[in-house]
Amino acid sequence: ELMLELKGIDSMAEELKSRYHLSEAVIVPGNCDESEFVKKSIGEACVSRIKSRLSGKTIIAVTGGSTMAEAARTMKPDFAEGKNVLFVPARGGIGDDVRNEANTVAALMAQSTNGSHRVLYAPERISPDVRESLLQEPAIKEAVSMIQSADIVLHGIGNAISMAKRRKSPEAELSMLESQEAVAEAFGYYFNKEGEVIQKLSTIGLKLEDLQHAKVVIAAAGGASKGKAIRSYLNGSPKLDILVTDEAAARELLDQE
Ligand code: G3H
Repeated sequence: ELMLELKGIDSMAEELKSRYHLSEAVIVPGNCDESEFVKKSIGEACVSRIKSRLSGKTIIAVTGGSTMAEAARTMKPDFAEGKNVLFVPARGGIGDDVRNEANTVAALMAQSTNGSHRVLYAPERISPDVRESLLQEPAIKEAVSMIQSADIVLHGIGNAISMAKRRKSPEAELSMLESQEAVAEAFGYYFNKEGEVIQKLSTIGLKLEDLQHAKVVIAAAGGASKGKAIRSYLNGSPKLDILVTDEAAARELLDQE
């Protein structure tokens, strides 16, 4: 354990990369639970990784959350100069703080980079038959097909229970998540410690299996409080190329086992 304490950022990044078969692990110094500035650095690191991977025409699917919102705030017009970038929200997601919704994040990214975007408005919780009808709507159909053909997926990872509370999930759902020991949440999926999906929101948008079709999948999440959630997601994700995190989360996540 003492060895871990002394571990530098570079060697932690190497360890994450090889342990979880990533093409890259980026660790920014600090703990975003304690400083908004660190969350901003996570956002910046995401943006620079994406920038270097843009080709002529690129579809980027983004989720919501405060980390994604930080990434959006650091994007500049030079991000996509001479390129054709289209941002699409990965999920419908009405229900969270409007500033952190995927729709808002995608719109802000497009605005900051002179790119274009699509919207996808659908409640976070819909009955199967309403879902089927919504999927017939041309605008929704278009957004869904763009999500499925996204070149780059950029998403956050949250703590299961805090995300369920943020979504104002019904008591029954919360206690089910608790009894099944939900640890992580990403784009509406809840995972246990082993990374098994234990529940998913019935909404419209990115599915876990869609990740396989993306050229690059980037997940961004930091803070010591998210260490276990990130580990659970790393255990469960069918495809993750780049993890962007902070030092505090990386320590939590590598610590033990
Ligand atoms: O899915 C998880 C959330 O997007 C994480 O949100 O970045 O505000 O912690 P956050």
